[in-house]
Amino acid sequence: MSKEFSEVGIEAIGLYVPKYYVSLDDLASARGIDPLKFSDGIGQKQMAVPPPDEDVVTMGASAAAEALQSVDIDQIDTLIFATESGIDQSKAAAIYVHHLLHLPRNCKSFEVKQACCGSTAALQMAMAMVAQKPTRKVLIIAADVARYGLCTAGEPTQGAGALALVISAQPRIMTLESEWGAYTEDVMDFWRPNYLDEAVVDGKFSIKVYLKALTESWAQYTEESGRSLDDHSRFCYHLPFTRMAEKAHRQLAKLNDQASAHPQQYEDSLHYNRVIGNSYTASLYIGLTSLLETSSEDLTGHRIGLFSYGSGCMAAYFSGKVLPGYRDFLRPQRMTEQFGARHRLSVTEYEAFYTHELPKDGSRYFTETYETGRFRLSGVEAHKRLYEPAQQAKHSVSSAQPAAMAG
Ligand code: CAA
Repeated sequence: MSKEFSEVGIEAIGLYVPKYYVSLDDLASARGIDPLKFSDGIGQKQMAVPPPDEDVVTMGASAAAEALQSVDIDQIDTLIFATESGIDQSKAAAIYVHHLLHLPRNCKSFEVKQACCGSTAALQMAMAMVAQKPTRKVLIIAADVARYGLCTAGEPTQGAGALALVISAQPRIMTLESEWGAYTEDVMDFWRPNYLDEAVVDGKFSIKVYLKALTESWAQYTEESGRSLDDHSRFCYHLPFTRMAEKAHRQLAKLNDQASAHPQQYEDSLHYNRVIGNSYTASLYIGLTSLLETSSEDLTGHRIGLFSYGSGCMAAYFSGKVLPGYRDFLRPQRMTEQFGARHRLSVTEYEAFYTHELPKDGSRYFTETYETGRFRLSGVEAHKRLYEPAQQAKHSVSSAQPAAMAG
């Protein structure tokens, strides 16, 4: 392993979450379900809901703008956009972001897909690109809108968000280690045919496959690295809902003949996802951000294990080590400043956002202005999506109230 490769890691992180959310207590009451099922059974309190003028491009561009605040954009050599909520079958969401952020002309820009694991495939690609040429910086954007359908079992596990990472040979937050365990199997646990806007899911089966993929990826990782559970201080799991971390950690403990799993090894990774919901490709990395930003313990030098699962399925287990001074490049006040400033939607308002559709016949359409990040989808014309920098929002949801975090 070359010296350069061992030093590849995360230089910067940016996170964007829509400005609107639904309280799962409100959703439970509207659906006639015991609220404890959502809060305790699946471990979710709120789910982020994008307004009609936001999509993966606007969310991803906002996350990337935050990540790039302390990075010279002229050094970005490649932009990889991971999503399973793509807005075009041909043109990459990365190209729109490249334009919105004025990235260099020579920056390669493309999209990758393998369900929630697409971002992790992008990460491994980025690590190899940086190892090959250490002056390179690669911007990864993971952005998704999780949609299962109104009144379905998956509905409380919806959510939306975007996470951006700058991967380079000058990491400031975490180095990434080169040993990986991976697993692929052709299964139908969760998928979305081109003609559907919502995922088709075999929920209980998907949990079983997730745990099997964890077992298999862990086995290869430990064989390659010679490391054990005790060599890890914290664990971040792909979080379709936060109780999945409990199931996953129990599984790892069992595999390693430990009598009990220790929740303190993963619980700080759950704070953000509990109020955002599933964000597919972004979910694991939002969990990592939550861990690094909310842990009261200084994690410098600690090894973090990461498990990425993408239905269908491909999974990966890998690890990284937290760097000295990492907190200087994070935003620990995010929970109050960013999530606390969101607007609470009634279930009726959420349903109106959910069912909003853009015209499919090529006609011209201007999207109403809501509160967004730095960019908004202004409309469509001749089958082209139009984006613009967001001005002061008109915020036309009449009853939406600023967030009460306990909602
Ligand atoms: N009080 C407290 N807990 C309650 C309760 C109550 N009144 N009622 C039920 N519960 C508990 C249940 O006991 C159960 O707990 P356990 O998991 O510990 O058994 C939990 O709440 C969920 O309840 P159900 O088992 O009845 O499950 P459900 O039919 O409502 O479906 C789900 C749950 C399968 C997660 C469903 O929400 C779903 O299909 N979600 C989408 C798919 C998904 O997230 N899969 C995860 C793996 S796939 C993946 O990770 C990729 C991805 O991102 C999609």
